[in-house]
Amino acid sequence: MAITENTIECDDLDAKIAEYQALGWRLDMIFPADSPREALMSEPPAVAGGLTSDTTTVESKISVNLVLNSVGHQPPATAGGSDWNLGRAGMMYRDLIPDRIGGKVIASHIKLLEDGPVADYVHYHKVEFQMIYCLKGRIKVVYEDQGPPFWLEAGDCVVQPPEIRHRVLFSEGKAEVLELTMPAEHETWVDHDLELPNGTINKARLFNGQPFVFTKHPKAAE
Ligand SMILES: [Fe+2]
Repeated sequence: MAITENTIECDDLDAKIAEYQALGWRLDMIFPADSPREALMSEPPAVAGGLTSDTTTVESKISVNLVLNSVGHQPPATAGGSDWNLGRAGMMYRDLIPDRIGGKVIASHIKLLEDGPVADYVHYHKVEFQMIYCLKGRIKVVYEDQGPPFWLEAGDCVVQPPEIRHRVLFSEGKAEVLELTMPAEHETWVDHDLELPNGTINKARLFNGQPFVFTKHPKAAE
C-alpha cells in the first residue's frame, strides 16, 4: 500500500488530533507516550474519498504526520523532578530518572486521574522491554492471546513483551502504576483491526522472543 504522508506542525497536539478525528481520521501512531510530540493519522478507507471506491482495492492511504512545534513542545520538566505531565490517553506521567540513562530506559510514575472507563484503545509498543507494577488502586486490562480482561491490583506486576496488543479498560481507587520501558522513547501504534479479548488463548506464545508475565501479589490472592 502506498502511503502519502504530509507533515503539519501545530502547537497543541491533542487539539489537532481531535480536529482530525472529528473529520473521521484515525490515530495510527503516537510518540512518545509520556509527552507526545508526534502523531501519525490516516483516513480510513471508508472516508478516503476519491482515492477508493466500494469496488476497488485500497491502493493508497493518505496519512498526516502531526508534529508539535517548538512553541507547543515543552521538553519534560519532569526528569528527576516532581512535575506531572499529561501523556497518552489522558494519563499523567512523572519521569523518575534524570537523563534516562542516556535514553536507554524510562521509569514513569503514572496516575489515572479519574476512576471509571479509560479512554484507551487497542495498541502496542515498539519496545525491547516493558514492565508495569501497580502501586495503588487497580486497573482492568486485557492482552492479546491471554484470555479475558483481568484486574492489575496494587502489588501486581506484568511484563508486556514487545508489540503485544493490549488495552486499559477501567480504573478504580485512583490507580497509580510504575512503568519501566526500554528504550526511553518508543512508538505506540494503534491496532484498528484486533478486538480484545481475542478468540485465541496462547499463554506460551513468545512476542519477539519474550513471554507475557503476570505476577500476582500473594496477599491479593488470599
Ligand atoms: Fe500500553
